[in-house]
Amino acid sequence: MSETWAKEAHRARPTRTTRASRAELAGVDLHLDLSGTRVRAGLESALRDAVRAGRLRPGTRLPSSRALAADLGVARNTVAEVYSQLVAEGWLTAQTGSGTTVAPRRATEPGARAAARPEAAVPGYDLRAGVPDLSAFPRRAWLATARKVLAAAPDHLLGYPDPRGLPQLRAALADYLARARGVRADPAHIVICAGFAHGLAGVSRALRAAGARTLAVEAYGHQAHRDIAARQGLRLQPLPVDGMGAVIGAASTEADAMLLTPAHQFPLGVTLHPRRRREAAGWGGVVIEDDYDGEFRYDRQPVGALQTLAPGHVIYAGTASKSLAPSLRLGWLVVPPRLLEAVTAELAAGPSALDQLTLAEFITSGGYDRQVRRARLAYRRRRDRLAAALGRQGLQVTGIAAGMHVVLEFSRTDAEHAAVTRASRNGLAIDGLERYRAGGEPPGGDGRAGLVIGYGRPPEHAYTTALARLCAALADVLPVPGGDQGTRVERRGERELIGGLMSRSSRRGRPPAGGGCRAGGRPRRTCARRSRRPGFPAARVPR
Ligand SMILES: Cc1ncc(COP(=O)(O)O)c(C=O)c1O
Repeated sequence: MSETWAKEAHRARPTRTTRASRAELAGVDLHLDLSGTRVRAGLESALRDAVRAGRLRPGTRLPSSRALAADLGVARNTVAEVYSQLVAEGWLTAQTGSGTTVAPRRATEPGARAAARPEAAVPGYDLRAGVPDLSAFPRRAWLATARKVLAAAPDHLLGYPDPRGLPQLRAALADYLARARGVRADPAHIVICAGFAHGLAGVSRALRAAGARTLAVEAYGHQAHRDIAARQGLRLQPLPVDGMGAVIGAASTEADAMLLTPAHQFPLGVTLHPRRRREAAGWGGVVIEDDYDGEFRYDRQPVGALQTLAPGHVIYAGTASKSLAPSLRLGWLVVPPRLLEAVTAELAAGPSALDQLTLAEFITSGGYDRQVRRARLAYRRRRDRLAAALGRQGLQVTGIAAGMHVVLEFSRTDAEHAAVTRASRNGLAIDGLERYRAGGEPPGGDGRAGLVIGYGRPPEHAYTTALARLCAALADVLPVPGGDQGTRVERRGERELIGGLMSRSSRRGRPPAGGGCRAGGRPRRTCARRSRRPGFPAARVPR
């Protein structure tokens, strides 16, 4: 069997085109598996197979018989006869002026693919955390910037970029991160990655290759990130999270590295207490600082990056997924020099250089700051409306000082389930805390329950309704203070089921601490203490 590319390059138009070269330039590339010695039969069956297997989809325009014959090195008549035969059999259609195309599929056709599975139902309203308002993406400004940089880019920029990413973007980020996040960043130590998920995978591989075995993770966090690290061979050790953030001292002596969200714990929302920050900075192992929404701080000055305290130990990670859009797949790492080579090697095939160039210009021209400030204002207003609406129901959310989500804690998990289910019946997608918990109960079993309410995601016009549906769901499953309670039997039953539904903090009337979580700023006792500084096998992992 020989494989043949029937190829028709889309080259610049030649000044003088012969009929043959015109045939070569027109149409599409077509890959055919030609078998046997009989050209006509082989071509017929190759085309039939390609249509049957779906490689040639209905409506696909085939090359002209002249062009295909030229590519295959066969007589034009042979191709024309094959096309006629397949038209007669119903595989192809031919119309004067529009050439030969693949015919629409018949339902009964042997080999026709089973009907595509329906897409997972998209909820009407969505208050799940993690995604910003995509309708607020600055399309015009981004497009104008992309145009500008592409028009001006020298040809060599279209070649393979530096494996760390384009120098222009690394320089722009170094300035921006120093100015806005207090990160100590030399452009030479920045590595561009395709979002945090990509960066984490590369860092995990680099650490694993250097001998690391165990990664301490916050007991509440992103399941996808835990999966990524585990897939690279790292064992995970959950760290409890209390009112001061992750309990650094609970990391076992086996832990070689630690993944933290110090500025705004995801999803509980607490800021890592200064004492814990110092502990993390002095811990000795590698700390991966996921600064996923550091730009979105509302109530006071943004909390600076942990990396500033220990640039030799902390890998700082940022992303454009919250500030711009996740689909850009643009993220960045500031890597301690001793880990730079290993991490770079793992992440060498980063995002498109054109996107990198656009982001670089977007940052240096001030477009990025403008977008962040605009978005911050919009999200802050949403957060205030959410807190006020739930406040009217006697509920108090926590973790409100930053980001695009808050937490409404309950005292029982059945309440959490009831609220998620009721919201879903109201056409509203929302997640419970359970979804974020690492492998069951963390050490010390905190038994937290509640909703993680992402207020960033809905487009502006849908936010009011999303909020109303959330309030309605909560009113249905919660005892409403002063409301008409008990008139319906099932309502009474629900109240019994979710008897302890009100968040403990709201019952106690505690004010919404900036990022406070249930422990209300009081440190929780920790069950495990480090008996020695964690470390990698000394010979293999640079510190
Ligand atoms: C905790 C956390 N870190 C990082 C990210 C960003 O990930 P990425 O840059 O891969 O889109 C998210 C997005 O939801 C997140 O929730």
